[in-house]
Amino acid sequence: SATTSIGIIGGGTVGGGIISILTSRSSLFTTLTGSEIKVSRLAVRDLSKSRDFTTPQGCVVTDDLNDVINDPEIDTVVEVMGGTTLAKDAVFAALKNGKNVVTANKAMIAAYLPDLESLLSELAESAKTSTKPPPTLRYEAAVCGGIPIISSMKGDYVGDEVEMITGIINGCTNYMLTNMDKEGLSYDESLKGASDLGYAEADPTLDVGGFDARSKLKILMRLAFGISVPESSISCEGITELTKEDFEYAAMLGGTVKLLAVAKRVSDTKIAAFVSPAYVGNDDVLASIAGATNAVEVVSKNLGSTTYSGQGAGRYPTANSCINDIVRTARGDRDTMPFNAPAGVGDEKEAAFVED
Ligand code: NAP
Ligand code: HSE
Repeated sequence: SATTSIGIIGGGTVGGGIISILTSRSSLFTTLTGSEIKVSRLAVRDLSKSRDFTTPQGCVVTDDLNDVINDPEIDTVVEVMGGTTLAKDAVFAALKNGKNVVTANKAMIAAYLPDLESLLSELAESAKTSTKPPPTLRYEAAVCGGIPIISSMKGDYVGDEVEMITGIINGCTNYMLTNMDKEGLSYDESLKGASDLGYAEADPTLDVGGFDARSKLKILMRLAFGISVPESSISCEGITELTKEDFEYAAMLGGTVKLLAVAKRVSDTKIAAFVSPAYVGNDDVLASIAGATNAVEVVSKNLGSTTYSGQGAGRYPTANSCINDIVRTARGDRDTMPFNAPAGVGDEKEAAFVED
């Protein structure tokens, strides 16, 4: 029977989860896709490290990610190593080599999505004269871990107009804030707990500084409003300055403190966006979002308010999104257009955008 060969770059929290799910449900995936999904190569940084998952039979483990992106047998590269330099080069090279890509890397997608879209368009153009379909790029796990928010933003709003996005979109900091507020844990104890559970980025400054949430907000803004703005233009404050007193005052007012990411259309040509800790009243659904759970409220012209919530970080929720992308890719699904943008919108320099 047919085989789909997967090469995975990264065997950490997310990579290990993907391998475990692919291995434990392999016959189901064969039925769903019509081909056996085989992990033929895995790249890691340190070959001597012990792993908390079993390497699939026949999978070659390497410490050179070029072995993955240049392997002619590999159909799909799954990038779950993180970072914006090596990972970016690997993703661009894999696409140019005709491989489909699945990634969970929000920092890289936020920084390079328009460039990746241009490359995909060029590759689609060249593929018109070829029998091989052009490569695809999927990144469901990059925003809100297990919540299928990317699919929703790409597919469910094509006839609609998004007016506002408000979200708790970083699981690590929400886990920390929940523990600081409800359990009275210190900032350091809470951060250690989040790291132990695999929620924090390799560099947790990205989480606690609000930068991870800002990258995700930028991606959502691209899909919701069709614009790409420099990340530095999105006002960003993290949770590092929060103290016990902030929670005490918030409780006295009948609420709590959450790290919110907000983007709002303020006129036909202007969008305001920020990431910041904010007071949230207990009557707001976002106040009850606890632990590594994320929630995104999308307000749109046709639907009104729709709230998506679910696990925003951690091994299996994140791997689940990658698995969905892998299965869709192996099935040969083509995506709908990425966003419903008017012609000309999307250039960073031209983007209609104001800081809040
Ligand atoms: P992680 O646990 O730190 O794993 C990273 C993996 O990449 C490790 O196996 C590491 O190898 C490998 N790696 C690093 N540099 C490499 C290199 N130069 N060549 C080959 N392999 C290399 O990270 P993670 O939590 O799985 O996150 C991976 C990606 O998913 C990141 O982009 C992150 O933002 C994203 N993400 C994570 C979550 C989450 O909840 N953890 C959720 C959504 C998205 P060694 O093991 O040998 O060090
Ligand atoms: N560090 C990220 C978070 C991982 O806590 O949300 C999921 O994107």
